[in-house]
Amino acid sequence: MTDRAPLVARLEVDAAHPIGRVHDRVFGGFVEHMGRGVYGGLFDPEHPSADAEGFRRDVLDLVRELGITMVRYPGGNFVSGYRWEDGVGPIEQRPRRLNLAWHSVESNRVGLHEFARWAELVGAELMLAANLGTRGVLEALDLAEYALHPAGTARADERRANGREEPFPVRLWCLGNEMDGPWQLGQQTADEYGRLASRTAKALRQLDPALELVACGSSGPLMPTFGSWERTVLRHAYDDVDLLSAHFYAEPVDGDLAAFLASGVALDRYLDDVIGIVDAVRDELGSVRTLGISVDEWNVWYQSRMAASLPTGDNWPEAPALSEDDYCLADAVVVGDLLISLLRRADRVTAACLAQVVNVIAPIAAPADALAWRRATFHPFALTARHARGESLPVAVDAPFIAAGSLGEAPAVSAAAVRTDDGGLTVLLVNRDLEREVDATVVVAGLAPGARVLEAVSLSGPDPLDASTIDAPDRVSPCGNTSTRVEAGVVRVTLPAVSWSLVRVGR
Ligand code: AHR
Repeated sequence: MTDRAPLVARLEVDAAHPIGRVHDRVFGGFVEHMGRGVYGGLFDPEHPSADAEGFRRDVLDLVRELGITMVRYPGGNFVSGYRWEDGVGPIEQRPRRLNLAWHSVESNRVGLHEFARWAELVGAELMLAANLGTRGVLEALDLAEYALHPAGTARADERRANGREEPFPVRLWCLGNEMDGPWQLGQQTADEYGRLASRTAKALRQLDPALELVACGSSGPLMPTFGSWERTVLRHAYDDVDLLSAHFYAEPVDGDLAAFLASGVALDRYLDDVIGIVDAVRDELGSVRTLGISVDEWNVWYQSRMAASLPTGDNWPEAPALSEDDYCLADAVVVGDLLISLLRRADRVTAACLAQVVNVIAPIAAPADALAWRRATFHPFALTARHARGESLPVAVDAPFIAAGSLGEAPAVSAAAVRTDDGGLTVLLVNRDLEREVDATVVVAGLAPGARVLEAVSLSGPDPLDASTIDAPDRVSPCGNTSTRVEAGVVRVTLPAVSWSLVRVGR
């Protein structure tokens, strides 16, 4: 709170023209064999909370509470060096390999069967990535046959002999990962990758025409390849795939908090650009199909701190601690804002994965010697995943523009609204201003008579850099927003400076 006069914003929810249904897969997560994400994260037979299969129960509970609906596995950069066969069969016979993506050693103690079991336990759909970096069509087909074919072939019977009678229910497949990245094992040009993605997709469809296939978009909006990569890849593969991936990581650069808090604007632009390019290729090719966008990696990631923690030289540890940053209020507000962007493009964003889930760039911290706890970014994700199910509605935001550091200016407020299946309305709001509250009025045409506030919570605090830590795990957590009221068919709410809020109205 400051004594500066509050800003004023007027928001209008257009209930008559829904953007689209929020796809369940938008609340996905991403688990990679990176750092302590798998080993020491979701799997640790030595931990006091481990179940008979070695999965940490404390982590299982928090992942369920987080509400991820889908989980992308096993990478990420890791997948581009991965031999899936290493991770199946008797555990004592599985080879130890270099994990070149993360300069470590992979024990292969967890592979497809174990991870699919974990996904079942958390109730999430499994999304698999195939290695198109150092491998190709044949290995992707082998994996698909192993995972999907009922019985009676060498690969299917191998799966059954390994203890899984029924096929794994994997419908959504990533054709590689970030193939334009110079860091990627087997980096390719757009022409090379576009042809490979097309060939792999056609082959997979001969195995199962109903698979849903994701081609790699560029690794992010700041890549020099961004744009031309998408165009070229899709000219080769447009009609062979169903979705194109987009990856987005936000991080404060040079302490520019104002620009960081406007990361949602950058994601909005990125999504608009990607969708524009996809549709331009569609029109150029005369295709009748419209592709979805799979934002299968997104988060706040202190990537610049990574280099310092990455092992080097002769040091090849197993499961080193990587990217285990605690998150602060500003990070949580940005995560909430990025979700708002995804909801506002519910017409095209049909899959998305918070990267990642446990320990590494994650909303859940799983210390080796203590119980798992919720980092600050846990809260906006969990609350949005729980309450933003239904139809996304357009929200016209009339709010002052504020200084957004290196980004120039940005609207002080961002918002999304979802008409939930029980007839209620969930409104998500972010105040990006560093100092001033915002008095927001949300006009909803046709708000049911008798509608009242069912729930109103905000994430806010005295200092945007205050973080939840193992010693103060609740420092950043949602509090009731008592300013919220419904008056004469409009919702009024005061948004604290640097805050994320969720308001539910209904009867
Ligand atoms: O999520 C961490 C890494 O970020 C992934 O392995 C890679 O795909 C991206 O660059």
